[in-house]
Amino acid sequence: KDDTLKKIISHSKEYGFIFPSSEIYDGLSATYDYGQNGVELKNNIKEYWWKAMVQMHENIVGLDSAIFMHPTTWKASGHVDAFNDPMIDNKDSKKRYRADVLVEEHIEKIRGKIQKEVKKAAKKFGGSFEEAMFIKTNPRVLKYQDQIKSIEERLKKLLTEEDLKGVKQLIEELGIADPVSGSKNWTDVRQFNLMFATELGSLADGANKVYLRPETAQGIFVNFLNVQKTGRKKLPFGIAQIGKAFRNEIIARQFIFRMREFEQMEMQFFVKPGSELEWYDYWKNLRINWHKALGFNEDHYRFHDHIKLAHYANAAADIEYDYPMGFKELEGIHSRTDFDLKAHEEHSGKKLQFFDPEENKSYIPYVIETSIGLDRMFLAVLTEAYEEEKLEDGSERTVMRIPSFLAPVKAAVMPLTKKDGLPEKAREIINQLKFDFNCEYDEKDSIGKRYRRQDAVGTPYCVTVDHQTLEDNSVTIRERDTMKQDRVSIENIEQILIQKTSL
Ligand code: GAP
Repeated sequence: KDDTLKKIISHSKEYGFIFPSSEIYDGLSATYDYGQNGVELKNNIKEYWWKAMVQMHENIVGLDSAIFMHPTTWKASGHVDAFNDPMIDNKDSKKRYRADVLVEEHIEKIRGKIQKEVKKAAKKFGGSFEEAMFIKTNPRVLKYQDQIKSIEERLKKLLTEEDLKGVKQLIEELGIADPVSGSKNWTDVRQFNLMFATELGSLADGANKVYLRPETAQGIFVNFLNVQKTGRKKLPFGIAQIGKAFRNEIIARQFIFRMREFEQMEMQFFVKPGSELEWYDYWKNLRINWHKALGFNEDHYRFHDHIKLAHYANAAADIEYDYPMGFKELEGIHSRTDFDLKAHEEHSGKKLQFFDPEENKSYIPYVIETSIGLDRMFLAVLTEAYEEEKLEDGSERTVMRIPSFLAPVKAAVMPLTKKDGLPEKAREIINQLKFDFNCEYDEKDSIGKRYRRQDAVGTPYCVTVDHQTLEDNSVTIRERDTMKQDRVSIENIEQILIQKTSL
């Protein structure tokens, strides 16, 4: 599986999906640029989300709020005081780590030991009832399981109580070594705030400290009344937004899964207090169906219901996707009560209430939030789409089975040869199609090589202009997944592409 991630990273670079940022200067850690195909795929994912959330819902509207917000926003939201991760440094290697992640990685190692026992048992008994019994009663496995349980419980308690000394003690007791140097010489654990701060205005003017937003949601909360009043919205209604967010993650790795600059697609749904859990179930269901509608393997998605809830939530779940690194959070659905609007009322002194004409009274609505990382969605699509396929003739091709409505290029138009007027004819076709679809013209290399190149980008259709085209205005149209070719009239291409590739 580790191998899969490496392959996806190198394929992404080779085919213009994702480049390391400022690569000529050796890159900047955990920062990436989306290339010519990446930006198309990303835009299509945004459109798929926007259409499902905004266009298809009469009672959801969009917003594009600024990245900079009044600094008090982040005091009210709790980010100034509580958006922290426990950090620890190794005194010898000078490397910095998230203390809780070090402990979690230690737990993973113990899990690895259990896996070893399981494999040993499988070898001995070969998948039988006896194997299952052997594992159940194996004292080593039982010991490891106990260890994991007790470490997990202790870590959770320490983090909840913000007992940083206790976290350090736990790391020392477990004998956790710096993965780089092997040294066990640790500093104390400190809280590290994840927000990036900068200054607005020049210092001479008495600059104000401002933050780069760590989530888009607060732009929605502070605009709640603006949108409700100008849009004449009644409860329930939602506000959706796509935009950049920034977090100074202590460890940012695993490609675009955890970055310091990333994009979120968030929606806050404002409801009548008391109805929030019904709406929470409604959105959980709708969001998982949005993922399933892509036709990916359904076993690669699962819900993770939060047992321990954040102070502002009364229900919360993640949709996890089975990345090459295992199941990890892709999207969060939270019932956030009236926590945020209430806090903004208190800090701003302005009322943020809805006047309910039916009840003839004003109140602060409750909020259901759906929040998905665009980059994590992008990585899920790459993971699902990437396939090294063995063909019947023994050859191999790398094909990106991206759902056609998300594919960066919808059609590649290719003249079979560079002469006899075929390129001109191909250009004619592309000039018609380009009003509605992102197309690519390709005349270099053999036709077989060109097909492979388009397979690797995930282009669902290749339109080939040959000598017959000049005679009867027909072309071949090759489908990416089946590699089947049909002969169709030029005037039908547009209709086929609309039918098969548009959102
Ligand atoms: N407004 C709620 C909120 O921001 P979150 O769970 O902190 O909740 C929501 O973030 C989503 O944003 C996550 O499910 C994840 O997909 C994405 N996300 C969070 N941190 C990220 C990072 N460092 N890099 C990429 N995506 C991230």
